[in-house]
This record gives sequence, structure tokens and C-alpha cells, in this order.
Amino acid sequence: MANVIVIGAQWGDEGKGKITDLLSRSADVVVRYQGGVNAGHTIVVEGNTFKLHLIPSGILYPDTECIIGSGTVIDPQVLITELDQIEKLNISTDNLFISETAHVTMPYHRLFDRAAEERRGNYKIGTTGRGIGPTYADKSERTGIRVLDLMDPQGLSEQLEWTINYKNVILEKLYNLPPLDPQVVIKEYLGYAERLRPHVVDSSLKIYDAIQHRRNILFEGAQGTLLDLDHGTYPYVTSSNPVAGGACVGTGLGPTAIDRVIGVAKAYTTRVGEGPFPTELEGEVGELLCARGAEFGTTTGRKRRCGWFDAVIGRYAVRINGMDCLAITKLDVLDDVEEIKVCVAYEIDGERCEHFPTGSRRFASCRPIYKTIPGWKQSTSDCRKLSDLPKQALDYLKFLAELMEVPIAIVSLGASRDQTIIVEDPIHGPKRALLHPDGTPVSTVNA
Ligand code: GDP
Ligand code: IMO
Ligand code: MG
Repeated sequence: MANVIVIGAQWGDEGKGKITDLLSRSADVVVRYQGGVNAGHTIVVEGNTFKLHLIPSGILYPDTECIIGSGTVIDPQVLITELDQIEKLNISTDNLFISETAHVTMPYHRLFDRAAEERRGNYKIGTTGRGIGPTYADKSERTGIRVLDLMDPQGLSEQLEWTINYKNVILEKLYNLPPLDPQVVIKEYLGYAERLRPHVVDSSLKIYDAIQHRRNILFEGAQGTLLDLDHGTYPYVTSSNPVAGGACVGTGLGPTAIDRVIGVAKAYTTRVGEGPFPTELEGEVGELLCARGAEFGTTTGRKRRCGWFDAVIGRYAVRINGMDCLAITKLDVLDDVEEIKVCVAYEIDGERCEHFPTGSRRFASCRPIYKTIPGWKQSTSDCRKLSDLPKQALDYLKFLAELMEVPIAIVSLGASRDQTIIVEDPIHGPKRALLHPDGTPVSTVNA
């Protein structure tokens, strides 16, 4: 039995959907623990593409239970559309469970998100506009609506009447927007409640019960380490905790139940939205990566910014998440690149810096120090074992693993399930140690 967390090691869109789907084969339960419909996880199976925003990426396996955990925020309208789409494909959603303590995104959250971004002007975050920040803000402010509130028609009507009148003051006076009619919103959300009711559970209890029955649980992170509210590139972050630690808080499970953390990173880097990005490429190579990698957002369709692999960020992600092993995705996207650069350290104010700097001003002033290595200039998408890879591609992977001091367990060379090399068993194979066998610390810096 193993309980495993899958997290994004960069700024999101690392291919977590593909890796989670792949690992779901050996999971009994797959749980989303944070984020909302800002996430877009793509799975390609036998030529069919599934884009999931809230439903965990285990849903394609008929016997796997999928849980949307308490740390997520749920936009019922989007969730119901997603349920309808899945059911239309004759995939059962009977095994989908929704936490009763997850918070609910309301129409005013979406309006606030977009209006605030407009007000911020040059200081905008570049959010997905899905109301994520305002939903989490209400959770902290203790004015949020939870799934269990939706399940109580009388209580919901009273709570929403008060809340919408309160929110209308902000809509009208701060943003010059028309007020919402509480009765219209109440009716709309009571309709959603009836559709979702059969799926609503005490998710923490359900997960605990699964653990006691020695079932394998996979925790699927959304977004990525650098979008983490506490540990990311604040303020250019999302409003939840995508890091591995977030899986315990976002499900109500104690850390002692977690066996392993698997990081997912692209063989290069992308970012959607605003904020510093030291290895960003603005010229021809950036365009090549964007085109070959089809780097357009799953949720908003925005073009993703592309850049070289950043090992400073990689080392940081290993540390912050306690990562045991890594899945490197989209190696095939580099197939046509003449020379590949890897950022091994930063230069800040004329000094070499090996560690990810806290503070957005310091991070914005980082200049990458690169090591250049030759490309392989041949297709890798049909490689199925390490020995099929060109030597330069193998050297590239070894270099990344050495820089981050973490074993690479999976290499992905295309969007579909079979375009994958399993290097080590990601669930039961070697774990990253904090100490060498002789007791000396494993350094987090070796560039
Ligand atoms: P997620 O948010 O981390 O699940 O990632 P997204 O689904 O938003 O973006 C990753 C994109 O890359 C999706 O379109 C995947 O189908 C695709 N993808 C995943 N792995 C690979 C790979 O190894 N090679 C290529 N070319 N595409 C991949
Ligand atoms: P997945 O799970 C990439 C980014 C937005 C913006 C910032 C804040 O598919 O990897 P928000 O709407 O969350 O308040 O936006 O976070 N962002 C993502 N970027 N992948 C995602 O999810 C993202 N979810 C949010 O672009 O910069
Ligand atoms: Mg995505």
C-alpha cells in the first residue's frame, strides 16, 4: 500500500494530468486537495482528449474512486458541465465524491476577480478570472459558502440573502457594477445543489476509511510549487497551497499517512499570467517550444510563456515538497533544438546565488547562469526505454537529476499513455534521501 502525492514542480501545466492518469492504474482513490476550476489537466487516451478542471484525473478508471477534497473551491456550474461531458462519453461518475466542507465559488467571486484585475492595471496578476482568489478570501474572512450550506435550502436562502446584499455594496460602490438579485442566485444554486447532492460526502472520513482498508491513495496537485500562496512567487501566485504539504491540510489527513511525493516538471519551463520568469525566451527558440509543445492554456487558451529549464527552481521544488522522485515531461518538445540551456544558478547584484530567493523584487532581478549542452536533433516520441534515447537526451536527463539531486522515475515523450518511459517504479522505487548512506547530508546545491 502506498499513499502518494503528485505535485507540479514549476508554474503549473507540467503534465500532472497525464502523470496522474498513468499512476491511477495502481490507485484505488484519487483526490484533488486544492485549487478550483483555474486548473486544466489534460489526458489523452487512445486519441481522445479529456480536459479536466475539477474532477480528479483518475476518473477514466471505472473502479477508482475520485474525491474533490475539502481544500478545493468548487464552481458548481463548471463542475456540472464537466460531469455532463464525462457522462456523455459513457464514463460513470458514480465514483465521484465531493467534500461537504469545500468552499463554493459564487457569481460575485468571478465578478470581483475580473474587476480587481482591471483595477490593478499594470500590477495585475494575470489570474484565470475564475473567481479563485475571492473564493479563498471569503473562506479566510469567514463569509464563505460551503458545499454543506448548499445542501440546506432554508439555511442557504438566509445566508445568501445576507451575503449577497453585503457583496452588492462592494459591487456597486467599489466596482461600479450592477448589483446581483439574491433571489435569482439562490434559485440557481439550489438547482446545482440537487444535482450535486448524491456525490456529497464527509471526505476526510472517507479518505481515512480508505487508508484503514489499506487502499492506495493518489493526491493530485493542481497548479505548481511556484504558484503556491506561501512558497511561490508572491504576489504572482494562486490563492491555495499546491505544495505537497497542502495535501494534508486540503484533505484532513495527517502527514504520517503519506508515503511518497512525486514531482512533475517539464523538460523546459512555462508560465501563464504575469510575474518574473528568469529563463524566459522571447525569440525564435521560445516560439519553437511554444509551437512544438502546443503551449496554450487548457483553461483560458492564453499563450504560455516559454523558457529554459531552471534547476534553481527545480532544487527549490525538491526541498519544499520533500520530493522523492521526478517525472520529466515533454522531453520530445526539445527534439528540434540545436543547443539546450539549463539555468544552474542565478546572478543577483553581481553575486552567484544557488538558492531560490524569497522576495519578488530579488527574484525579478535574477539573471540566469546557464550551462549549454548539445541537442539531439532527432525524434524521441517513439522511444519506450532509456536505451532507445539518443545519448545527448540521456545526458540531459542525467544532468537534470544531478543538479536537483533527485532520481528521475518517469520520462514522458508525448501526450498519450504509451509515450512514456518508466525508469524506476515511481511508487515503490528509490526515494530521495536527506542523508547519504554514510550519514552525511545530501547537499541541495551542487551546481
Ligand atoms: P497539467 O495542468 O499539469 O495537467 O498540464 P496541462 O494538461 O495543462 O498541460 C500539459 C499539456 O502537455 C497537455 O496538453 C498534455 O496533453 C501535454 N503533454 C503531457 N505530457 C506530454 C509530453 O511528454 N509530450 C508532449 N508533447 N505533450 C505532453
Ligand atoms: P494547472 O493545474 C498554470 C496561474 C494564473 C495566474 C495565477 C493566479 O492546470 O497546472 P488564479 O486564477 O489561480 O487566481 O490565477 O495562477 N494559474 C495557473 N497557471 N496552470 C494552472 O493550473 C494554473 N492555475 C492558476 O495564470 O498567473
Ligand atoms: Mg494545466
